[in-house]
Amino acid sequence: MRILNKEVWWSMGAQKIVVIGTGYVGLTTGACMAHLGHEVICVDNDETKINSIRRGILPIYEENLSELVTQGCDAGNLSFTTNLSDAIPDTNFVFLCLPTPTSDDGSADITAIIGVVADIRTHLKSGAVVVNKSTVPVNSANSLVELINRSDIDVVSNPEFLREGSAVRDFLMPDRIVVGCVNPMAGHRVASLYENVASPIVLTDFASAETIKYMANSYLAMRISFINEVASFCHSIGADVLEVVKGLTLDKRIGATFLMPGPGWGGSCFPKDTRAISRGADLTGERLELIETAIATNTKHQLRIVKLITDLAGNNPTTSRVCLLGLTFKAGTDDVRESPALIIGQALVSEGFSVVAYDPMQPRIPTHQIALVGTIEEALRGADVVVVATEWEEFSSLAAENYADAMRGKLLFDLRYVLPREKFAAVGLEVITLGQRPIREIGK
Ligand code: UDX
Repeated sequence: MRILNKEVWWSMGAQKIVVIGTGYVGLTTGACMAHLGHEVICVDNDETKINSIRRGILPIYEENLSELVTQGCDAGNLSFTTNLSDAIPDTNFVFLCLPTPTSDDGSADITAIIGVVADIRTHLKSGAVVVNKSTVPVNSANSLVELINRSDIDVVSNPEFLREGSAVRDFLMPDRIVVGCVNPMAGHRVASLYENVASPIVLTDFASAETIKYMANSYLAMRISFINEVASFCHSIGADVLEVVKGLTLDKRIGATFLMPGPGWGGSCFPKDTRAISRGADLTGERLELIETAIATNTKHQLRIVKLITDLAGNNPTTSRVCLLGLTFKAGTDDVRESPALIIGQALVSEGFSVVAYDPMQPRIPTHQIALVGTIEEALRGADVVVVATEWEEFSSLAAENYADAMRGKLLFDLRYVLPREKFAAVGLEVITLGQRPIREIGK
C-alpha cells in the first residue's frame, strides 16, 4: 500500500468520464466529478429517472447535489442519457455505480455489474479504465478483469464512503480516497481525477481496497452495536450512558464520533454490507464472528427497546395509541430502508398498539399498519405514548408544553437522547431513555 503524495505524480487535467448508474452514489459521483472540472456523462437504463433528472428533479435528496447538477448541466460538462453505447467509445474512464443488493443467501448480488460490463467490454476505447465504485464481494475486481478479457483495458477498485445526507461533502472532502489496482499506472490515472480533492490517496491492490470498504462499514456498525449494549448495561446497573460515552470518547484511541447510542443501525449500507462480508467470510471458512455478533446484537437491541416500551406502556395495548416520531433510519435523509424506527413501529403494531407516525420527510413506507400524518401536532394528539426514533431537530425544538397539551398519556421514549428531560418533567411528562436513570431518581 502507498499513500500517494500529490507532488510526485502528474496531473492529467480534465478527463472524459462516463458514470453508469444514477443512484445516490452515481449521481453524487457524476455531479462532483463535473464540479472537479471533468466532462461527465451519466448513464442509466431508467428513462423516467433520466428525463426527470434532466428537468432538475432528482431521485434522491442530498444537500448541494441539486445545485451541482444544475451547475454542471449549465456549464455543459455534465449530461444524462440512457444511451450507453454512444457514451462508451469516447471515454477514458467508466465508473460503475450500480446496485449490489443482498442476495437470498446474504451475499452481495453483482449481476447488474456483470451485465453492464459484458455489454460495454467490446465498445471500450483502448486504454480505458473501468473504475468500480459499487460495494462488491472481495476479489470481484479480478472477476471483472477476466470478464473484460482485454489487455488494453484496466480495472480499478475505487470504493465510496458516502454517508446519506452528506454524500456531496463526503465525496469532495473525504477522509481518504482508496484506489485498488494491478497496474499502478491505471491507479495513478484514477487518482489524478481527484487532484483537486485535498485528501490522502491510498494506492493498494484489488482485494485490500474491496476489504477496506467492507471493514470500514463493519467496524462502524460494530461500534454502534457496542455502545447500544453499553446503554442496556447502564440501564440495568444504574449508570448514565451519556456520561459513559463522554468518558470513553475523551480517549483519543477510541475517538470522539460515531459512538452515540440509539435504536440500532439501519439504512441501505450497514445491514447489506455486514451481511455480505460475514456471509463471504463464512464461505472462505474464516468466519468474522465479531461482525456476525454485531448484526445479531443490533436486532436484539431493537427487540429490547420494544420490550422496554411494552413493559412500561403496554398495560392495555389495545387501547393505547403510540405516536412514532421519525421513520427514516437517521436524520438528514428520506431513506427508510431497514430503518430501526420502522422496525420498532411495526413491532408495536404487532403488540396491539395503534401507531401513528410523523416524519418531516414524509417518506413512503412499506406498510399500511402505521398511519402517517402530515404534522407533529396531529401525531401527538391523544397519544398515550410517544417514541422519538429519529433525531430530527423538529422533535427537540418543539416545546415540552406542546407535547403535554397534545398528549393523553405522560410517557415518552426518547431513543435518540434529544429531548430536554428536565423541561418535560417540569410539565409532568416522563422522558425515558435507555441507559439513564429517570429524572426523578437522579440524586437519590
Ligand atoms: C454508512 C457509512 O457511514 C458510509 O461511510 C458508507 O459509505 C455507507 O454507509 P449511512 O448508511 O448513510 O453511511 O449511515 P451512517 O451515517 O453511517 O449511520 C448508519 C446508522 O448508524 C444509522 O442508522 C445511524 O442512526 C446509526 N448511528 C450512527 C448511530 O446509531 N450512532 C452513531 O453514533 C452513528
